[in-house]
Amino acid sequence: MEEAKLIIDGKEWIFPVIEGSEGEKAIDIRTLRQQTGYITFDPGFGSTGSCRSAITYMDGEKGILRYRGIPIEQLAEKSTFVETAFLLITGELPTRDELTRTSVHLNDFSLLHENMKAFYQNYPSKAHPMGILSAMVNAMRSFYPELIDLEEEMNKTYLRLISKIRTMAAMAYRISLGERVVYPKPGLCYCSNFLNMMFDSIVVPYQIDPDLVKALNVFWILHADHEQNCSTTAVRVVGSGKVNIYATLSAGISALWGPLHGGANQAVVKMLQRIHKDGMTIDDCIKRAKDKDDDFRLMGFGHRVYKTYDPRARIMKKMADIVLSKIQKDDPLLDIARKLEEVALKDPYFVEKNLYPNVDFYSGIVLRAMGIPTNMFTVMFAIGRLPGWIAQWKEDVSDPEMKISRPRQIYTGYQVRDYVPMSERRQG
Ligand code: SDX
Repeated sequence: MEEAKLIIDGKEWIFPVIEGSEGEKAIDIRTLRQQTGYITFDPGFGSTGSCRSAITYMDGEKGILRYRGIPIEQLAEKSTFVETAFLLITGELPTRDELTRTSVHLNDFSLLHENMKAFYQNYPSKAHPMGILSAMVNAMRSFYPELIDLEEEMNKTYLRLISKIRTMAAMAYRISLGERVVYPKPGLCYCSNFLNMMFDSIVVPYQIDPDLVKALNVFWILHADHEQNCSTTAVRVVGSGKVNIYATLSAGISALWGPLHGGANQAVVKMLQRIHKDGMTIDDCIKRAKDKDDDFRLMGFGHRVYKTYDPRARIMKKMADIVLSKIQKDDPLLDIARKLEEVALKDPYFVEKNLYPNVDFYSGIVLRAMGIPTNMFTVMFAIGRLPGWIAQWKEDVSDPEMKISRPRQIYTGYQVRDYVPMSERRQG
């Protein structure tokens, strides 16, 4: 067993080194405080492993992303979102029967409890769909309370969530427009059903376009998991308190909403629209993105793990070309995005800081081309990420090594002092 040696105040401490199946190594410091009285300090956890996991492997230096060992490029080309969700949650690709049974369950579970519609109708019409989604997933606990530990029942709970999150998203969109709700249609596949619920109308019945269905499958496959990112960590931390899965996933949706995380796809399009509307030059953008005193950042660029091109961005960039050529529409924002990328990738600031396009840089353009409104972009990310959150939650709660999350801190406040009665306090 490899060991790490730490010398504190002249005394030597030995800690075991653990190694993962791809050679990633960690110093096991679980007994550090108990042995030395010291803790480690790592805000943002950039050098901290929170768990062992067999779900997703990323190599940020080489731009590798694999779900249960299968490269994302192969899944994007050959798989579907439903099959990828099965792979993430169970660890294996489904047999033909398993895939058929999964699809039947997803169809059976696609309707929402009619009383849930009242929630939507009483939300302010301008409410952000991510806030609605987080609340609705949490509310599912009240409508589907039968959370028993039987594996079979929990598998149905996973499928119920994966199926209904799609219906909830489409319902939020339709009600925000004041349009009639379109119910899921039996017999339509997962992605086709979603597009139909979003865009079908009595006047012009929605025509399912196989290229857009493929693009949506690829979009959701690319977003399905990403090891211990911000929202997955939120799911693991909240789930470690043994609260029910609905409340746990609701926390993941809230964490994803942030513009530095899943909200970046919406922020990228807003940035591109601002550049287009204000007539900013590419050089202006690059200059402002580098200026610490300017709050303008190149949204969709940079990543905590990828220090090379995000492999998902490469696939998403191709999807943008395919979807736009399919709908025979030019999007000036795509031209701006391409020029921004071209200049940024040559700029010393971005090169030295390893800032490359991430999955969000092109995803907003693909979603726009599919007719998805900007304020639904992060909801689309959440639908994709749900199977990953479920897989990570399932792994966490069944891991004997895992305990309730409770980090330590370095206290920097007042040292001990006495209470001061009001009469003796400073005035003002
Ligand atoms: C996602 O973790 C995941 O896996 C997330 C995700 C997933 O699938 O779950 O991949 C999804 O969240 C993708 C990231 C989407 N967010 C954005 O595109 C927002 C823009 N990006 C940045 O905010 C930033 O790059 C982060 C948040 C993504 C990463 O931030 P880090 O790792 O904390 O890096 P940092 O902020 O410390 O930046 C390092 C340096 C800084 O400069 P210095 O202080 O060293 O001088 O790079 C600079 C930053 O100022 N920098 C940028 C920049 N991103 C980082 N400068 C300009 N534009 C940017 N976009």
